[in-house]
Amino acid sequence: MGDEGKHAVLKDGRRVNLRTYKPSDKEELVSMYANLSQDTLKWSMPPYNRERIERMTSDLDNRIIVLAFDGHKVVGHLQISLATNARFRGTGDLFIYLHQDFQNAGLGAALMNEGIALARTRKVHRVELTVVADNHRAIRLYEKVGFQREGLKRENYLGEDGKYHDEVEMGILL
Ligand SMILES: CC(C)(COP(=O)(O)OP(=O)(O)OC[C@H]1O[C@@H](n2cnc3c(N)ncnc32)[C@H](O)[C@@H]1OP(=O)(O)O)[C@@H](O)C(=O)NCCC(=O)NCCS
Repeated sequence: MGDEGKHAVLKDGRRVNLRTYKPSDKEELVSMYANLSQDTLKWSMPPYNRERIERMTSDLDNRIIVLAFDGHKVVGHLQISLATNARFRGTGDLFIYLHQDFQNAGLGAALMNEGIALARTRKVHRVELTVVADNHRAIRLYEKVGFQREGLKRENYLGEDGKYHDEVEMGILL
């Protein structure tokens, strides 16, 4: 995926550009997270402030980051953080967030497929993620692109409703 990038055509016909992260994208990424709705962040791990995003986008040698753009605006972010310990070499941890105006239209699938393809190119062996069990749309997406359920962390996530929720551990071998 070069600078000219690729594009995804969403279920509603909109066209979104996909390309890997560059340091000059940071402000647009900060801006996307600053504009996420409460509903988008419902099962997340806040805060997603500038400091957090700076940490997420440091150590770029060990990260695979794909962004989705609507014009100059970042509307989707997928990241695979590669393990650095020798015993976990070749494994990575994934997360994905889309702006609410771009959810449920196939962009998640396009970003996941791109992220997995890039991981394969880099000879990554395994990618894993953790998702709150109530996040049915995310789980459906992960299964659709080949992740399998590997475990259940019972009542590990304290939701904004003040209740503990299970988390599902998922993984894909590449
Ligand atoms: C989760 C997320 C990445 C999914 O991306 P998306 O572009 O919305 O998903 P897609 O449209 O590619 O695919 C979603 C699939 O789930 C299905 N789906 C939608 N709502 C669903 C629900 N409530 N229960 C089950 N499946 C659902 C869709 O029909 C679609 O499947 P299909 O293509 O077979 O019809 C995106 O919605 C998002 O960013 N959500 C908020 C942040 C978040 O939860 N991130 C994950 C944290 S681990």
